[in-house]
Amino acid sequence: MHTISQYQEIISNHFANLETNKNPKNLYEPIEYILSLGGKRMRPVLTLMAAEIFNMSFEKAIPAATAVEVFHNFSLIHDDIMDDAPLRRGNQTVHEKWDINTGILSGDAMLILAYQFFENYEPVIFQQLAKLFSKTALEVCEGQQYDVDFETRDDVTIPEYLKMIEYKTAVLVGAAMKMGAIVAETSIENANLIYDFGLNLGIAFQLQDDYLDAFGDPKTFGKQVGGDIIENKKTYLYLKALEFSTQEDKEQLMHLFSIQPNDNTNKIASVKEIFEHSGAAQATQNAIKEYTLRAFEMLEKMTVSEDKKEVLKVFGEKLMNRNV
Ligand code: IPE
Ligand code: IPE
Ligand code: MG
Ligand code: MG
Ligand code: MG
Repeated sequence: MHTISQYQEIISNHFANLETNKNPKNLYEPIEYILSLGGKRMRPVLTLMAAEIFNMSFEKAIPAATAVEVFHNFSLIHDDIMDDAPLRRGNQTVHEKWDINTGILSGDAMLILAYQFFENYEPVIFQQLAKLFSKTALEVCEGQQYDVDFETRDDVTIPEYLKMIEYKTAVLVGAAMKMGAIVAETSIENANLIYDFGLNLGIAFQLQDDYLDAFGDPKTFGKQVGGDIIENKKTYLYLKALEFSTQEDKEQLMHLFSIQPNDNTNKIASVKEIFEHSGAAQATQNAIKEYTLRAFEMLEKMTVSEDKKEVLKVFGEKLMNRNV
């Protein structure tokens, strides 16, 4: 096994050397742009880690890790169009820097490019990877559609929200890890346990993403703080605030989430105030912890050495305390 920072270094060097600059420029430059903005590279790191946890050299997992990260970046380009987001990783989003059509087509090309990386594997492994990937990608689309549908609904429940984030975010984290397990040719039991570890970590991750969207520091967050509030996203913060609030606050919150003012400064401030004093912010923090601990429980049944499980726990704890 390597350390987390070594895996990060490996992935970062790999993406720095990835050849994506071809013609036509207007198709490939946005791809190069989004990939060069970096980000945390969490998913490919998890793929490499999973391979080594199950005793396979990380090198064999590099194409699968690349596929996952390229797919993730494709989903971000399209997500930013859907969320009308101006900023990504501290820079202009692709559809702002170019235009919406460019974002759609460069995104489409990235989805195909992602699949092509699986061609590096022999047929049996290729088939397993492609099957998992197709299932996951379709679930991400379903999750994204729920996310958008919920913007205009006022009766979204916590179980519906949890299903939505499981699909739009957590399944890809689970799949990233299971791909490492597939490449390592470990047992089905281990592959499913690492998937469930990733899935629970992914739910915690999206809860934290929602929290930071409201309470992150604009100087370091890299995305527009308050973007979910502007878009009336039915996040855990929002749903818990409705649950915990007095009738008066509840009505105000529902009103705020039905309007789209030109200037959102007051809307964001009022909503954040309710998120805090209702106890919703604290409840979100508690839920992040709970799902991280659920992820750790999956490790108990896994047949790998304790020091390897420890690397995964350290990763999960670091994720819980992130601020970007
Ligand atoms: C952002 O993912 C989209 C979500 C699923 C919340 P990340 O927070 O992993 O984004 P980068 O790749 O580090 O920028
Ligand atoms: C993104 O959820 C999920 C996918 C990209 C599939 P968000 O919309 O919350 O992600 P950010 O906050 O824009 O990164
Ligand atoms: Mg978004
Ligand atoms: Mg979104
Ligand atoms: Mg978000």
